[in-house]
Amino acid sequence: MTGKKEMPTMSRSTEDMPKDGRQAVGIDDISVYVPGLVLPLTGEFSQKRGIDPGKLVKGIGIEQMAVPDAHEDAATMAAMSLLDLMKRSHIRPEEIGKIYVGTESSTDEAKAMGTYVIGMLEKVYGRGSFQECSTVEFKAACIGTTFALENLSYWLAGEDEGKIGVVIASDVAKYPLASPGEYTQGAGSVALLLKKNPRILALEQIYGSFTRDENDFFRPMGCKTAVVNGKHSNQCYLDAVIGAFDSFAQRAARKGAIVPGEGQCVTDFIDHQLFHIPYPRMVEYASAAVFRHDWMKGSQKKEIEGEIGPEPKAQDFRDPAEYQAKEAAYSRSFARSSQFLQVYSAKVRDTATLSRKIGNIYTGSIYLGLASLLELERLLAGQRLGFAAYGSGCSALFFSAIVQPDIGSLPRRGLIERLEERRQITLSDYEKLHEGMMEESLVTPEMEFALSKIDHQGYRHYEFVD
Ligand code: CAA
Repeated sequence: MTGKKEMPTMSRSTEDMPKDGRQAVGIDDISVYVPGLVLPLTGEFSQKRGIDPGKLVKGIGIEQMAVPDAHEDAATMAAMSLLDLMKRSHIRPEEIGKIYVGTESSTDEAKAMGTYVIGMLEKVYGRGSFQECSTVEFKAACIGTTFALENLSYWLAGEDEGKIGVVIASDVAKYPLASPGEYTQGAGSVALLLKKNPRILALEQIYGSFTRDENDFFRPMGCKTAVVNGKHSNQCYLDAVIGAFDSFAQRAARKGAIVPGEGQCVTDFIDHQLFHIPYPRMVEYASAAVFRHDWMKGSQKKEIEGEIGPEPKAQDFRDPAEYQAKEAAYSRSFARSSQFLQVYSAKVRDTATLSRKIGNIYTGSIYLGLASLLELERLLAGQRLGFAAYGSGCSALFFSAIVQPDIGSLPRRGLIERLEERRQITLSDYEKLHEGMMEESLVTPEMEFALSKIDHQGYRHYEFVD
């Protein structure tokens, strides 16, 4: 890989982790599946919905939305990303000890999606080939996959039979037609191969967490689309990520992994910062909130105050509404400050490249951020990545990982080129697919898994179409 580093970093060497003789565990490979249909948001969609395209591209940060065809669902997409992962990394079914699936688009209230996925993969690898592999579904809104990753990493650390693990994120993000959530939909799956001595990222096994009961986004039983309190969901996301960041900072200091010196901040030790990406603009809001929160404890505070003045303080205002307005204005000034913009473009911006053309894939979107950095060749051995995962309801988990020396040995994925090959669909076709009214697939399936029928009991039948 030939990515250029633009900011001074304080990365650690990869040789010093872990220190107690255990092998590092982490992400060895990553595969991304995106449906072959795409709805451009700046043409017919913005016209018919009466939305200024500038709002979508700049205000939300989205240009195109991936749309699943009639034969696709979260299970077929998961099977597609797993098949690609196995082919890319030459994995045999019997090597995989566990497949954990993070999803909030489950195809069944009881049956684990991974069993459908295994059923599909066995159509390629032979019946019974995954018999000894266990599979569990993790539901925690958009953070499910990250909890799956955390749990699988603990299992892998103690595994002594040479088995490997797979974590799959697969989701169809769906809101009612013509609602404000509509332009933050998307669909896709990411499969992560977890191994000892991984080629891409070694997890530092420091997880900072935050949980609070919230009604920001949920999908009551039987509902096909999410209920969302949009602006409130943005605020819950920010509160949770800041909470998880503080928890991470304390744990990283206790473990001696990140111990900021005089005037230093925790984010000085992070080279690339990834966030959950419900829409790319949210990553801007989130990074501004995290960097501001962190920098106000370090030497950056003076420079920031020199540029945009001191932060408003609640005790200086008699009217809470006046304070809130001043605080919102200060946040906007911070997000436009030269200090922040420089760090944002060096450490954050490129994580949202793929999401601009795919949309929200819920549980997998933060790992789409990782795929973006790989695609753009932005990672260098020894760099530290910070991950801020968020799930509505709500929870956040902040963790870190170190880029490994073998990162350049992986085959390219060509994702940006693959996105260009998708078929653009009309608004009317998108609406039919959205409402489940499209009887035939728009593109006849070929070399892929397809839902062939749902029988009288509700059991789903899948096939591999070659
Ligand atoms: N040109 C440029 N920018 C424009 C514009 C124009 N013509 N018109 C508006 N904008 C800007 C606005 O100024 C605003 O930016 P600022 O915040 O900088 O002011 C931005 O576009 C957004 O516009 P609105 O404030 O009008 O927002 P909206 O009504 O379109 O709603 C949303 C946005 C709340 C995200 C809505 O799409 C939604 O509810 N989405 C689903 C929920 C969601 O994604 N929540 C995120 C947190 S929860 C989570 O992360 C879990 C998950 O995956 C769902």
